[in-house]
Amino acid sequence: MRGSLTTTAPDEGIDEGINDEGMNGEEMNGVGADGAGLDGGRVGVAAGAPDTFAAVAAAVRAGLTAPQKTLPPWLLYDETGSALFEEITALPEYYLTRTERAILASSSDEIVSAAGLPLEIVELGAGSATKTSLLLEALLARQPTALYTPVDVSPTALRLAVAELRRLRRLRVRPILARYPDDLVLPERTAERRLVVFLGSNIGNYEPSEARALLAGVRRRLEPGDAFLLGADLAKSPRLLRPAYDDAAGVTARFNLNVLVRLNRELGAAFNLDRFRHVVKWNAVASRMELYLESTVAQTVPIPALNTRIAFARGERIHTESSYKLTRTAQRRLLVDAGFQPEARWYDARKWFGLTLARVPARRRSRLGAS
Ligand code: TRP
Repeated sequence: MRGSLTTTAPDEGIDEGINDEGMNGEEMNGVGADGAGLDGGRVGVAAGAPDTFAAVAAAVRAGLTAPQKTLPPWLLYDETGSALFEEITALPEYYLTRTERAILASSSDEIVSAAGLPLEIVELGAGSATKTSLLLEALLARQPTALYTPVDVSPTALRLAVAELRRLRRLRVRPILARYPDDLVLPERTAERRLVVFLGSNIGNYEPSEARALLAGVRRRLEPGDAFLLGADLAKSPRLLRPAYDDAAGVTARFNLNVLVRLNRELGAAFNLDRFRHVVKWNAVASRMELYLESTVAQTVPIPALNTRIAFARGERIHTESSYKLTRTAQRRLLVDAGFQPEARWYDARKWFGLTLARVPARRRSRLGAS
């Protein structure tokens, strides 16, 4: 998941292609490998399809002409990037995915029960949904059918999710391809209660103010009694954190550098991958890992589609991603600030990763007559 998330137009045929007998791959028809064919507003696709040429061009222009060069994280998740990210999640150094999966493996039943049945599940930044299938299986053990709405910026990831979940016959899957968090419109609910899940420590990829706004936006779109499940990595020693973002096999480096391959392909840019390197910094003050692409020489890179050339000093960096690491208290505060009531938490034995279940509180009634 990835990158920034969410949003769909409520009236754009989200339910088209959903088969009442269960999920199928039909709803993903029209989702091309690089977002081609997404503009028609069909098949669970947001009105502003995420990966259009115009969106990429605008983001790259803004990012690479800023004083601190930057590229938005969602650009990392093209088809190759999504596949590399799946590889990252299986790396020995990348403890996050397997730790979160272990918590879900042992606690999914408790989690869905605590959320309150019957439920439907919406996932922001679903990725390939392999971890979420544990929650969905627990849910289907307790109710006859269920609806799952994965939202992701990557068509590749959504296709993987659909394929992964095909085996759950009583599940309906309604994938939504979308990116932007500011205008999240959730399709009409089908169960009494909705559980929104946000896993993979994706919340940490947002700046703190964005993270609060994103969660508050989700909360506003839910009803009292609905639930939210946040999966987030916990602050720990940088000696443990750093290898997760700079693995020995170099997969994370390839993942990061792939964004330049994408700009070469989609914008005709001339980035030479031998002249950039993957750099990871731990920022102790902000409590975040920072990922950069560093220019190893002074160079100028033409980007024909933008009709521009970008100059890099030797050692100059493009910021591509941050991954904030919050303490348990800070995770709790983030949820409370967004208007949620934290109710229960689950951790792995080492307390490296936490899952927090939070509730949308009853609306405060206006106190007529009270002074
Ligand atoms: N949410 C993930 C994280 O912060 C995303 C991620 C994992 C990631 N590895 C990465 C992003 C490497 C960029 C590069 O851990």
